[in-house]
Amino acid sequence: MNNISTLSTTDLIEAYNIEQASHIFPWLKTVFLTNQGERFLNLKLSVNRQMAGFAITQIILNEASLLNIAIHPQWQRCGFGYHLLDQLLKKLTNRGVITVWLEVRASNTRAIALYNKCGFNQVTLRRNYYPSITKREDAIIMAIQLD
Ligand SMILES: CC(C)(COP(=O)(O)OP(=O)(O)OC[C@H]1O[C@@H](n2cnc3c(N)ncnc32)[C@H](O)[C@@H]1OP(=O)(O)O)[C@@H](O)C(=O)NCCC(=O)NCCS
Repeated sequence: MNNISTLSTTDLIEAYNIEQASHIFPWLKTVFLTNQGERFLNLKLSVNRQMAGFAITQIILNEASLLNIAIHPQWQRCGFGYHLLDQLLKKLTNRGVITVWLEVRASNTRAIALYNKCGFNQVTLRRNYYPSITKREDAIIMAIQLD
């Protein structure tokens, strides 16, 4: 049984473990720890009371930025990423958010497929935005308008 709830300060060590296990280029721990607080709507998804994933979203007035979403590799492709993002968008709608933005590596096809499935559209491309192992990588900027 899975459950979505607020990511609290006591969850951050467990969440950062998922960050490191799931991302090819994880955030630095200091970056992870500072993207918390009252301007954020940060959620966790738990399976049988164990954290399987999280989403980090910053809200400024009626706009939000999805800064990070990750599901532990052990739990990927089970529908949890979709469920978490779908619930996040509903909560943002209830808070009066109109537009949600995100940026994603152009090579991250599974995340892009998830975002498309949830209704995000590509808005623009930032060339050579991300560092990569061999050369820099483009960022795709996506957005969704909420009802
Ligand atoms: C992106 C991520 C969050 C998806 O989570 P998930 O729980 O595995 O995704 P779901 O099982 O809910 O799948 C939802 C949709 O995502 C897409 N998707 C997910 N994994 C995919 C894969 N391996 N290949 C292709 N599409 C995929 C599909 O569109 C899928 O819908 P479908 O099942 O109808 O085909 C997960 O792969 C992850 O944590 N990746 C590493 C971190 C990351 O890249 N985060 C995003 C950038 S910040």
